[in-house]
Amino acid sequence: MAMIIGICGTQKGKSRTSHSEFFLNYIGGLAKERGGDFRLIRLIDSNILVCDNCGSCMETGECKHMQNPEDHFGGILETLRLGDGFAICAPVYGQGAPAVVINFINRCCALRNNAALNPFFNKPLLNIAIAGGIGNAVTLYELENYQSYLGYVSAGSLGLALMNSDSEMTGMTGFVFPADSPGISGMVKSQALKLLHMSDRQNREM
Ligand SMILES: Cc1cc2nc3c(=O)[nH]c(=O)nc-3n(C[C@H](O)[C@H](O)[C@H](O)COP(=O)(O)O)c2cc1C
Repeated sequence: MAMIIGICGTQKGKSRTSHSEFFLNYIGGLAKERGGDFRLIRLIDSNILVCDNCGSCMETGECKHMQNPEDHFGGILETLRLGDGFAICAPVYGQGAPAVVINFINRCCALRNNAALNPFFNKPLLNIAIAGGIGNAVTLYELENYQSYLGYVSAGSLGLALMNSDSEMTGMTGFVFPADSPGISGMVKSQALKLLHMSDRQNREM
């Protein structure tokens, strides 16, 4: 039984179908089927102030923005702290991770100096990049890079390219993707089951 937190990197508003959100909710459904629980964090729905390299986290262990009521990072941290395991899903934007994801990762830099605040330490995390066609390698590289300072345990990295030759192209954000095709969900499922196994409290306590 595990609480899985999905961190969604789409920049689409809530009313639009996001592939990243679709796959995270799919993983959440698998967690619930196994008696666990799931929370979704859509980064775009929160105001995460940008790191301005002030250096305060290096001196005090805490980011100065955490004192600013306009900053929502503290609320996100509270949800992250509930997690036994994590899945982060980033769409590919310009062959890399989107701005909200990079901003989130930058703010997470402050956590490496504060073990008490760091919700990721020693917990499993699955990285997923979702492209129309190309750019998963760089996006996964960006996601994997923060393992070294957050100390999470890798539950794998998965790159999905969703566009196929039958897809209708209606503009950069308007591809029709076979997100729920059995082949693609099968790949997500096998990786998600690994994450769920690693996140299971019993397995982590062994
Ligand atoms: C600004 C922008 C840049 C993009 N760049 C790429 C790209 O470099 N390679 C690619 O395969 N898809 C690219 N895409 C398509 C997205 O990766 C794709 O639509 C993805 O499924 C969106 O995920 P979401 O629905 O969770 O937002 C781009 C989309 C946008 C809006």
